[in-house]
Amino acid sequence: MSQFEPTIVAFVCNWCTYTAADLAGTSRMIQPYNVKLIRMMCTGMVDPKYIIRALLSGADAVLVSGCHPGDCHYINGNYKARRRVKLLQEMLAQFGIDQRRLKLTWIGASEGNDFARTVAELVEEIRALGPSEARAVTAL
Ligand code: FES
Repeated sequence: MSQFEPTIVAFVCNWCTYTAADLAGTSRMIQPYNVKLIRMMCTGMVDPKYIIRALLSGADAVLVSGCHPGDCHYINGNYKARRRVKLLQEMLAQFGIDQRRLKLTWIGASEGNDFARTVAELVEEIRALGPSEARAVTAL
């Protein structure tokens, strides 16, 4: 039997995590192919409906990642993202979706190593969790 390969959608901030992902790529760091990056100008622009749509469209997990607290180029977008993700994690649990399927991280532009490690760990964690519970909802 083949191993389950999760699909992960990552909403990443243009100024920090996207640049870190680019650095990881240009530095030829080994990264899993499971992660689909969506480049946003700021994590504060990640509308909760984007996350829900991703989960209902087949993503097994969603990563939101941006600038470290205090470094957001739009002052407080990452703080807004942190509040939204916390609320969404609670909502997901109420719908029977494991909260670990939604992650928020801060990865700065020079932290290509952190990006590669974070996505590798996330893929391993979601691989162990198995397919998203949301798949059952969408199959109805
Ligand atoms: S600009 Fe990076 S999180 Fe706001």
